[in-house]
Amino acid sequence: MTDFHHSRRRFMQLSGAALIAPPLLTGCSPAQAASSPASLPRKAIGMPFPSWGRLPDTIPPAPKEDSVGFAVVGLGGYAIGQVMPALAKAGRCHVAAVVSGNPDKAARVASAYGLPKDAIYNYDNFDELAKDDRVDAIYIVLPTGLHADWTEKAFAVGKHVLCEKPMALSPQEGERMISASKRAGRKLMIAYRCHFEPYNLHAMDLMRDKAVGTIKTIETFQHYRMGPTSPSENWRVVRSLAGGGALEDYGIYGLQAALYLSGETPSHIRAVTEQPAGDPRFAEIFASVRTEMQFPSGATASLFTSYDSAPGRNRVSVHGDAGTLLMDPATGYGGHKMTLTQGGKAKVLKPGDPSVQFSRQCAHFADAILDDVEIRTPGEMGLRDIRLIDAIYTSAAEDRVVTL
Ligand SMILES: NC(=O)c1ccc[n+]([C@@H]2O[C@H](COP(=O)([O-])OP(=O)(O)OC[C@H]3O[C@@H](n4cnc5c(N)ncnc54)[C@H](OP(=O)(O)O)[C@@H]3O)[C@@H](O)[C@H]2O)c1
Repeated sequence: MTDFHHSRRRFMQLSGAALIAPPLLTGCSPAQAASSPASLPRKAIGMPFPSWGRLPDTIPPAPKEDSVGFAVVGLGGYAIGQVMPALAKAGRCHVAAVVSGNPDKAARVASAYGLPKDAIYNYDNFDELAKDDRVDAIYIVLPTGLHADWTEKAFAVGKHVLCEKPMALSPQEGERMISASKRAGRKLMIAYRCHFEPYNLHAMDLMRDKAVGTIKTIETFQHYRMGPTSPSENWRVVRSLAGGGALEDYGIYGLQAALYLSGETPSHIRAVTEQPAGDPRFAEIFASVRTEMQFPSGATASLFTSYDSAPGRNRVSVHGDAGTLLMDPATGYGGHKMTLTQGGKAKVLKPGDPSVQFSRQCAHFADAILDDVEIRTPGEMGLRDIRLIDAIYTSAAEDRVVTL
């Protein structure tokens, strides 16, 4: 574990940044720490139409008889840009209702999807979904700090739940969500789209087939430089809505990749956070998180994520005793690149179209609901990851290796 004990100094060398102890997190999880009064509130509120949001030019075709109807909760950039188009083309699912705190935006979106006025809900009349037989499942696309409460509400109205990543901000919230699913006898899935994306699926197969031999180390980088913003306008920098920040939002892809490529969960974690003073972007969240993990097999993983590191990078590499797998970019919406090097020879692999990940994920949840297919990314996987994120922050806050 020598490497881990030196991680703080190595991180300082790597980042060149001033490190401070993470005072906001000591003794409590990000979800429990209070935000400042000027921050966006930890409650569901309407927001403007996202500037980059694009609606379909034509209304999607009417759903087939056995199609699963989804209510989409929170009409932000991801819901409008990816979730709703994916539901419309997934085959066994369709958008049946929307839930939004912005009535004008909701009416515009509903009209583009051919929804009647009575399929538009808001955060106050959400409970009326219980009587709406057009809706079988609810897709939660709200800021992360609202996932647990709204997932519980969705189960309380008797629907299945597909919840965006990360599942929630603390293990306690994740446990609540799983209990609510069990109580309701309804399914819970976490929207980890890479489990439906051809490049990442092929990488999992390659690692299972020992394409790089025995894995020695995995490196992941998920970072970009966030433009000027503050907690009064952007939930991603509000602690009570976003937790520690980049790790939950973006670094989780690197964390997930390290787990699904190694096929293991770590036994030891050592992490360091960076939170520069005087920058409104990082008044409540961390700018960067560097994590080192050790797996029971002896393999290690080194993860770096940041909202303050340019140029942006989304890269995963696996180094084994017989080769290397490089994915760069690794986990985005498209443009994936993958190179396998064995015996000194590099081969570029193109296993499929990454854009199918969104609709395949929705179709998988429909299969789970209609045919009882086992969910590939269940609530338990989301909870495992929040526990690891919790361990990462504990390691950084207490300046020690966390043994799991
Ligand atoms: N899987 C992926 O690749 C991916 C990519 C991006 C985001 N996500 C996840 O999707 C979720 C939403 O992210 P996003 O990028 O779509 O966010 P966003 O563009 O900021 O939209 C969030 C929406 O949530 C609603 N909302 C309710 N209460 C809010 C509050 N207090 N502050 C801000 N918004 C509030 C608003 O919808 P209304 O105005 O309709 O009420 C808002 O438009 C997050 O969990 C995120 O991690 C996943």
